[in-house]
Order: sequence, then C-alpha cells, then structure tokens
Amino acid sequence: MTIEIKDLEHIGDAAREFVGAMGDATVFAFYGKMGAGKTTFIKAVCEVLGVEDVITSPTFAIVNEYRSATTDELIYHFDFYRIKKLEEVYDLGYEDYFYSGAVCFIEWPELIEELLPEDAVRVKITEEEGKRTISFS
Ligand SMILES: Nc1ncnc2c1ncn2[C@@H]1O[C@H](COP(=O)(O)OP(=O)(O)OP(=O)(O)O)[C@@H](O)[C@H]1O
Ligand SMILES: [Mg+2]
Repeated sequence: MTIEIKDLEHIGDAAREFVGAMGDATVFAFYGKMGAGKTTFIKAVCEVLGVEDVITSPTFAIVNEYRSATTDELIYHFDFYRIKKLEEVYDLGYEDYFYSGAVCFIEWPELIEELLPEDAVRVKITEEEGKRTISFS
C-alpha cells in the first residue's frame, strides 16, 4: 500500500488511511532517511489513535509511552538512532514492549533489525521535493 502526503496540511488524511490499514499488526518499523518525516507521521498517526499527549521523538529516553484517550490502550514510540550497542536495547527490556500486544512505532529500526519481531510491518518513508510517500505491505 502506498500513501502520498503532498504537504503537512494533508497529513491527517494520510494518517487516517494508515490507521485504517493497520489491521491486527502491532509492531511498525519506520525506515527513512534523517528528516524523511518519521516522527511527524508517527505523531499524526498517534493523534488519529486518540493520543492527546505531546508527541515528540524519544531521542533521550529511547522509548516514549502514550495512552489513547479513546481506547485507553498504550502506544510505544521508539527511536533507536542513538543506541550504540544492542545491549542497551536488551537492558531496556525491548521484548516486554514488542511482544506486549500494544502498538509499537519504531524509528531507526535498522539499528535493531535482528531484534524486530518476525511479523513487524516495515514502513518506508521517502521524500521528494517536499512530498512524502509512505509505503508498506
Ligand atoms: N509530510 C510532511 N510534509 C511536509 N513537511 C514534513 C512532513 N513530514 C515531516 N516534515 C518536516 O520535515 C522535518 C523532519 O521531519 P521529522 O522530524 O518527522 O523527520 P524524521 O524522519 O523523524 O527525522 P529523524 O531521522 O531525524 O528522526 C520537520 O521539519 C517536519 O516538519
Ligand atoms: Mg524522528
């Protein structure tokens, strides 16, 4: 599936389309260059899912936890950009998150590729002349 985002004004529609396609999957790995729009899109998706908290990239904490005000479910947002060793991810207790059944959105999954659950959905974000394209299968 491919979702195009012309500009920030249209990100809500794109996020709604994405949420409609999430199905029963829980772990979503977002691949894309620096500045591709991973955090921005995850934020828009979390808003559609009913998160009312401030959503920012968990650069220092590795993981941020949000709660949907509509479903009362937890959502985890990871950013592995700064990890240096997989040990840090083990210490974090990543399995308790990835296999919790809660929705997990992951930035920089490349850095923990071998720890991703087999059924993780791989989402690619590319940018060209300001237009973002989200693709996944
Ligand atoms: N769909 C979009 N349309 C227009 N601008 C966007 C879009 N998505 C992101 N941007 C802008 O691009 C910049 C980078 O976005 P963002 O921080 O989401 O990227 P990122 O992929 O998370 O980067 P990083 O790898 O550093 O975490 C921000 O200024 C943001 O406002
Ligand atoms: Mg980011």
